[in-house]
Amino acid sequence: MGTPRLHIRPGNPDFLDLPWEEPISDWDHRRLVEMPTGIHRHPVVFVAYEEGVFAVKELPASLAENEFEVLSTLEGFTTRAAEPAGLMERVWVDAHSEQAAAVITRYVRYAFPYRTVVSGPGFGRRRTQMLDAVAGLLVELHLAGCYWGDCSLSNVLYRYDAGAMEAIMIDGETSTIHPSLSDGQRRADIEIMTENVAGEMADLAAMVGSDIDRADLALGEDIARRYEGLWAEVTEPLVIGRDQSYQIRERIDRLHDLGFATEDLVLEPTGDGNRVRMRLSVVGRTFHSDRLRERTGIEASENQARILLGDLRYHESKMGDDGLAPKVFAAMSWLKDSFQPLTHKILELEPGADPVQRYCDFLHYRFTLAQSQGRDVPNGEAFASWLEAGRPGFPVPT
Ligand SMILES: Nc1ncnc2c1ncn2[C@@H]1O[C@H](COP(=O)(O)OP(=O)(O)OP(=O)(O)O)[C@@H](O)[C@H]1O
Ligand SMILES: [Mg+2]
Repeated sequence: MGTPRLHIRPGNPDFLDLPWEEPISDWDHRRLVEMPTGIHRHPVVFVAYEEGVFAVKELPASLAENEFEVLSTLEGFTTRAAEPAGLMERVWVDAHSEQAAAVITRYVRYAFPYRTVVSGPGFGRRRTQMLDAVAGLLVELHLAGCYWGDCSLSNVLYRYDAGAMEAIMIDGETSTIHPSLSDGQRRADIEIMTENVAGEMADLAAMVGSDIDRADLALGEDIARRYEGLWAEVTEPLVIGRDQSYQIRERIDRLHDLGFATEDLVLEPTGDGNRVRMRLSVVGRTFHSDRLRERTGIEASENQARILLGDLRYHESKMGDDGLAPKVFAAMSWLKDSFQPLTHKILELEPGADPVQRYCDFLHYRFTLAQSQGRDVPNGEAFASWLEAGRPGFPVPT
């Protein structure tokens, strides 16, 4: 019995008031809150503080330390991994015991486990979105040099991201971080994912009482194909003539369209010296969310941010910008006159909803309304019409 060793990341509570003397599955504490969870081996509980809700997962010390390290390193590379808040070690128990340690992560808001979107033995209408989300996450992690070692549908959470979905890594017990990954490491990681997903789909079919033949066993392979396509697009080498700089711009724009932020560009002479090979460092998939944060302070997912920036530009054009007013005024007036009043109204109607996602839903509705009427529809009018239509979201792509 004793006091645990706690390693806390900045901006989090100290968690000292939790009853660490007991295993978390025995806890009966005022801070405990119920949250839905996916399938998991290790016990997980959720605790509420003024700073927010946190997930506490109990596991042997070496796994906990590894997960805490990996998630901490990933923080600099991606927003699509659980944010580590602390590592707790019960120094008085055997380090190999299942109760030796716990990783504390910030609760991932507005996200849900995959079984919530399952219909029958597969994903139904959400299939494409979910597969792209997992493939996109794997590309992003591999670019960051992260070998996951246990990618599966239940080791991520899903979240709506405007008209798409995003996947967030929550389980990094087996992961390792390298300066870069070899093709062999990437292939091995994809193989693990494919096997895990086939197993999960078979379990799912059994759970809903459907025939194994009807299970979507090729789902993992479909994720792998999407992964390969995106990986090639992001990393394909580009060799151009010295008078073809426009191709560099094209490539960078395309990467930004895909959401990837880019850093240093290196051009090396190749062949007879009249051609150059372009190497571009591609970092996290945060191009638009970084821009949005800089301009407005709003935290949003990548596609949400892309849509909000579009709305901000639309607002600027409506302001009749004469080019003299600093951009910061446009952002302030957009926040004050458009984003904030409408998200407040949305939250009054739907407490607990993701206000950014619902605002994007509204913007999509306003856009289709304008298209059908052949004119820009002012916010007030479009919002009233959206409410009347039952506040629809984005259509699910097929
Ligand atoms: N930060 C978080 N925010 C929200 N939910 C979380 C968070 N961390 C964990 N969870 C929930 O707890 C569940 C278990 O987490 P995790 O996959 O890390 O546990 P596990 O026991 O290691 O799983 P495995 O069986 O793969 O080893 C997840 O499916 C998820 O629903
Ligand atoms: Mg897990």
